Amino acid sequence: MPDALSALRAAFPVASRWIYFNHAAVAPVALPVEAAVAEFLREAREHGSAGFQAWLARREAARQAAAALIGARSSEVAFTTCTSQGLITVAEGLRLQPGDEIVCLQDDFPANRIPWWRQVRRGARVVEVPRDESGRVTPQAILARVGPRTRLVAVSSVLYDHGFRLDLPALGAGLAARNAAAAAEGRGACETLLCVDAIQSLGALPLDVEACHIDFLSADSHKWLLGLEGIGLFYCRASRLEELDGPLISWWSYAQPFAPWTPESPLQPDARRFEYAVLPVAVLYGFEAALGLLAAPGRPAIEQQILALTERLAQGLAARGWTVLSPRERPAERSGIVTATHPSRPARELVERLTAAGVQVTWRGGGVRFSPHAWNTSEEVDRLLERLP
Ligand SMILES: Cc1ncc(COP(=O)(O)O)c(C=O)c1O
Repeated sequence: MPDALSALRAAFPVASRWIYFNHAAVAPVALPVEAAVAEFLREAREHGSAGFQAWLARREAARQAAAALIGARSSEVAFTTCTSQGLITVAEGLRLQPGDEIVCLQDDFPANRIPWWRQVRRGARVVEVPRDESGRVTPQAILARVGPRTRLVAVSSVLYDHGFRLDLPALGAGLAARNAAAAAEGRGACETLLCVDAIQSLGALPLDVEACHIDFLSADSHKWLLGLEGIGLFYCRASRLEELDGPLISWWSYAQPFAPWTPESPLQPDARRFEYAVLPVAVLYGFEAALGLLAAPGRPAIEQQILALTERLAQGLAARGWTVLSPRERPAERSGIVTATHPSRPARELVERLTAAGVQVTWRGGGVRFSPHAWNTSEEVDRLLERLP
């Protein structure tokens, strides 16, 4: 294990008790995250809100780190309290007309389907793209469903159940080409925007909003980003800011939240308008620490380690007679998730047995879902395989 990853591992005391392969559910708390939260609590205990300006400064530092992670400008990033908040901001904010279409994925996590289906009440149509027989969803299959009325394509970067990793650069490029053709024909109003739920990849796999032509992105911090539940990031491309006119606007959305408010008061000129009220400062401190933790080893080292661990695991499972459900033929479609079934035992029973044996995993998509992070080791993969029935 490279030194930088050893330092990351040292931040996880959970490793002394558990083989923890459950980051697709909730990350364990890392020492610097705990320390940052404790720092805030200590200050607030001793000084109340005297540190308010420092809280704001910490928020801006976290915003810069979050923006750097996805290749955005910090003015394009807002903090939210969960992934759903960002997705709902897009769904309710788009000025949809009856007959407009939203394309999403049939097998996506409910948080990335419900906000789109809710738009049926505004007259929108939802088109869901199914997986093919090998469990994949190709950019071509998605683009084939995009028509003249499609206002938005909403996908997850990695599917939560079997860990299929979408080809976002190809999907983004395909949509950008369609939009450019529409603009050239004078149909600029027919643009199709791209919204990505990145909670199952951000922190584990690199993602660049520019390279993928992403318009909106949302992810909470409590999985691969190694933060805590209750704080997430929402990206809104600067040129799309005025396309969102949703209900989640309140006093913090305004340029001067502490000035007397009038209906003419100007909104924040950037994505900060989506931070509509107070945010949980303690967990924001934790998120900033988690972003620092992830930046230290660097994104390539993190991705390489995760892909090496999941490959070793998938091979080990197959060698023991398990069926790996995660589509793994193409390396670019692999992620931090491996889901597999035992030849005879149901997934829930296996999860219980593994928990009793000191292994944290969960059941999803009809199988046992394993999700190691870069601080896990190949030695842990081998010990886990030994503990399988
Ligand atoms: C793809 C995906 N989106 C969203 C969520 C959770 O959404 P939220 O942060 O709003 O609770 C999950 C959680 O498992 C998920 O896998």
